[in-house]
Amino acid sequence: MCGIVGYIGGRNAGEVVLQGLKRLEYRGYDSCGIACINRGLVVKKDVGEIDEIEARHRLSRIAGSPGIGHTRWATHGGVTKENAHPHVDCSGEIAVVHNGIISNHEELRRKLEARGHVFASSTDTEVLPHLIEEHYRGSLEEAVRRALAEVEGTYAVLVISTREPEKIIAARRESPLVIGMGEGEMFIASDIFSFLRHTRRALPLDDGEYALVTRGGCVVKSLATGEVKRKRVIEVEWSDEEARKEGYPHFMLKEIHEQPSTVASALKIYPEDVARLAEMISGAERVYLTGAGTSLHAAMVAEYWFAQLADKLVIAIDSSELRNKGVLDAGTLVVGITQSGETYDTLAALRYAKQRGAKTAAIVNVIGSTATRIAEHVLMQGSGIEIAVCATKTYTSQLTLLLRTALELAKLRGGDVEALEAEVGSLPGKLARVLELEQEIKRVAEQHFDVSNYLFIGKGINYPTALEGALKLKEISYLHAEGMSSGMLKHGTISLIDENMHTVAFVPAQGENRKRIMSNIQEVRAREGRVIAIASGEPVAGDACIALPSCSEELSPIIFAPAFQLLAYHVALKLGRNVDKPRALAKSVTVE
Ligand code: G6P
Repeated sequence: MCGIVGYIGGRNAGEVVLQGLKRLEYRGYDSCGIACINRGLVVKKDVGEIDEIEARHRLSRIAGSPGIGHTRWATHGGVTKENAHPHVDCSGEIAVVHNGIISNHEELRRKLEARGHVFASSTDTEVLPHLIEEHYRGSLEEAVRRALAEVEGTYAVLVISTREPEKIIAARRESPLVIGMGEGEMFIASDIFSFLRHTRRALPLDDGEYALVTRGGCVVKSLATGEVKRKRVIEVEWSDEEARKEGYPHFMLKEIHEQPSTVASALKIYPEDVARLAEMISGAERVYLTGAGTSLHAAMVAEYWFAQLADKLVIAIDSSELRNKGVLDAGTLVVGITQSGETYDTLAALRYAKQRGAKTAAIVNVIGSTATRIAEHVLMQGSGIEIAVCATKTYTSQLTLLLRTALELAKLRGGDVEALEAEVGSLPGKLARVLELEQEIKRVAEQHFDVSNYLFIGKGINYPTALEGALKLKEISYLHAEGMSSGMLKHGTISLIDENMHTVAFVPAQGENRKRIMSNIQEVRAREGRVIAIASGEPVAGDACIALPSCSEELSPIIFAPAFQLLAYHVALKLGRNVDKPRALAKSVTVE
């Protein structure tokens, strides 16, 4: 996963690169480092979170320019100082940071070692500086091109060298890289957000491209042919202010509380794009909605909406499995759902779909991200920056856009969805009322944190709600939690229920599924299990009930979301967890 940052300009690179890395910490945070040219090459790196390393090594005081930096989430090689980036060649004159995986690194390393290169780490990345050194004949640009031609796998890479101190070479293949265009200074990073405080003008690189970046600008070329590419600079609407906690103790809590307004904007934005997606779905023989983690859960909820409201079978599928069981041809539409627009498996699914002649679309939050450049049709979420690793507001925005698409499709097919459409407008107000219950949810969390097993159950459209509720709790509290359809309870898991298993049940306000889940609650209680009911409408009598505003069952997945998010948040807080940066997780998983 990892995040990379580069800076070239009149300021000291140490400070600018460190600020950028702080913004990318969500991509990995087990070690970090910076290399900078200040007459010679200065490299500082270590194991730990960025703040710890800054306290130890004062990375921000590294003077000079250009500079490159890296925050790591280990893939190849353990979490050690040697394995932290940047990596350098034998001469100590070439430094490289890399995001991605070099799959033929063992073979390359053997070849390089045979030619006398000495390696300092056990990473795949270290082959790069040595390969560049090997190919250097007076042009860093040419050496990087030749080196990358030997590399298999994925990369976003930045290279600096004291041999040519006035430039950074940046290249990408399947890992994100965006150039920030300043005035007399340039920024390069894994995402736009990293340099937003300096410039809103961005130039995303595409696969197979590299850029020669100097203080005054950049030239983008093809890695394969060396030919110059014409690129379009995009203006980013996001503001840097969004990246502050604004008095909240954690980004996650701030983002949970933003939901009335993010859902309100998801209800309004881009009607033509929603309509186009609905038309694409209508015209396709087969439709897959694909994503990972929370985005997959949004796809699973939408499966019910398309079936129930528009009579259309769409299939939600884990993006890492699409290549194994997707039936793809020209009549198929694959819709990638991805907040970051950079999840490896979701991008791979979209690319695979294109290869097979299928049509593609994507619902994406991050402007200029790779998914927005791969998919034929893109629906932007407009949720604003989400910083906490745990997805919260972006989930309810994805849901809102998918619901709007299903309603649009229903209308295209002559369905009568007027009543539901009218109710949809009340969602922001209802979400605000759910958030007013925070103190009550906190109390419930404080009564139920001291337990190691949680079960989340839901029926129908709230089966995916149960999966997402369990995921939130697992991610940030590290408690074991399992989500399932309540119908499956009797097929095995019920044998685990006793007073140590706490069950969160999602209860809609009315209908058959309310009755069914109420009877599941009785089954749990009969086995001494403790129940937390998250109920819309009439409260449920029993151990604990978080009573939410009444709404129709179709809308309940959106109303339930802030309640289980707050529950997970307060349990994690009570357990003293690092809520915004849970261990071993990264906000976007850019490796397979
Ligand atoms: C990671 C994150 C999850 C996220 C998933 C998909 O696992 O930790 O929070 O849901 O990736 O991310 P995407 O950006 O594709 O929605």
